[in-house]
Amino acid sequence: MHIADMLFTQGFGTRRACAGLVRQGRVRVGGLVVADAQAEVQATGLHFTVDGQHWQYQAHALVMLHKPAGYECSQKPRHHPSVMSLLPTPLRTRGVQPVGRLDEDTTGLMLLTDDGTLIHRLTSPKHHVPKVYEVTARHTVSDAQIVQLLAGVVLDDSPEPVRALAAERVTPLHLRLTLAEGKYHQVKRMLAAAGNRCDALHRSAFGRLVLPAALGIGQWCWVDAATITAEPAAAVG
Ligand code: URA
Repeated sequence: MHIADMLFTQGFGTRRACAGLVRQGRVRVGGLVVADAQAEVQATGLHFTVDGQHWQYQAHALVMLHKPAGYECSQKPRHHPSVMSLLPTPLRTRGVQPVGRLDEDTTGLMLLTDDGTLIHRLTSPKHHVPKVYEVTARHTVSDAQIVQLLAGVVLDDSPEPVRALAAERVTPLHLRLTLAEGKYHQVKRMLAAAGNRCDALHRSAFGRLVLPAALGIGQWCWVDAATITAEPAAAVG
């Protein structure tokens, strides 16, 4: 593949803009400037820099973001900035979008990708990808509430009860809830249906991926798609 075409696939702008980046000497491979836009590169596994910033060629982009409060997941945010504004321009240009949504005031692990098939696989109710939420409850979480959340509570948009896969009281006000679906405001509505209230919400895991302690609020990192569904413990690429 020509290096300018490779940059185009990675979201560095139009083909013309990518050729310009190369000709201006802003692209390096193995530390050396590649100034010929037609230079052939082996894209798979390629490491390169653009204006000194390191990148690795990815056929599809999959990243994990530590979402701060005060950001909307919508592409057209209404009251707060979009989570997309926390990602570098090439990721936005290549069409990365959130895998499901978190509320504006929810923090924690978000996945974003430009792989439509993966989005479908991870969000389809058929696949039951578990997500773990750390809930700060308004009132002490009672045994009866845990039993109710595990047995199933009825929400206002469906007669079918929704149940948590797991519900663990970590401290009197800290509930760890594992859910298989991702209905609108699901955790908050389940807590309310069980007679409590969610004061703060943080997603700590998605499938086999656990939010790494080293990933600061607002930071992102690459993820290897295989680690989400693979058998061994989660890893971050
Ligand atoms: N459930 C909620 O209520 N809000 C979220 O952001 C995620 C799950």
